[in-house]
Amino acid sequence: LGPGDWRGRRVLVSAGPTWEALDPARGLGNRASGRQGFALAQAAAERGAEVLLVAGPCALPTPVGVQRRDVESARDMLAAILEALGDRPYDLFLANAAVADHRPASASAIKGRKGEIPDSLPLVANPDIVASVHACPQRPHCIVAFAAETRPDVTTAARKLWRKGADVAVINDLEAGAMGGTENACTLAWGEQSLNLPRQSKLSLARALLRALDPCLS
Ligand code: C5P
Repeated sequence: LGPGDWRGRRVLVSAGPTWEALDPARGLGNRASGRQGFALAQAAAERGAEVLLVAGPCALPTPVGVQRRDVESARDMLAAILEALGDRPYDLFLANAAVADHRPASASAIKGRKGEIPDSLPLVANPDIVASVHACPQRPHCIVAFAAETRPDVTTAARKLWRKGADVAVINDLEAGAMGGTENACTLAWGEQSLNLPRQSKLSLARALLRALDPCLS
């Protein structure tokens, strides 16, 4: 195992936050930096895979050998991913993006003045990208979904991801630095098995995570 052993494999990675506009200046987002997703894309490219990275708004350079599509909202991200899946089948989908669960019910093309912004904001649910990819006729062979939680109960968090169609659940503890930091730790759970990957740089964690996924891809 090592460089080149994923040649011929196709890997789709979602990364970063999504931005749900309220007007041209304001919106809903979250603190995801995109670093873990970009590191996963880099680690897959290092092993020779053909990698498409669908990235929400984040200021990171594109890893060498990775094809990138920038998107803004959850709905943009879903459209870009479904378009990519219509092309040729993917072996692996790493759903690492921190997708906003909700968006403002309406958005304005003009920036609202202070007095015009209501005290409460009607929200509507965004589509779930993992569930939509799972339901897609061109479903990738393996779907990996991520959950970042504070002091997670791994079993409960994994079940939630499996229910929407993920084959492998990756649970991050926000206290280990998942969001915004340069290091991360996680627990993988699939079937009856689980594996703890200790705190390390996001790139070395990405490499370890892909090694752990090898049995799921054959
Ligand atoms: O349910 P929760 O949001 O914690 O699940 C997180 C996982 O689901 C991540 O893999 C994320 O990319 C994905 N997700 C999604 N579509 C959403 C929300 C989350 O695909 N609307």
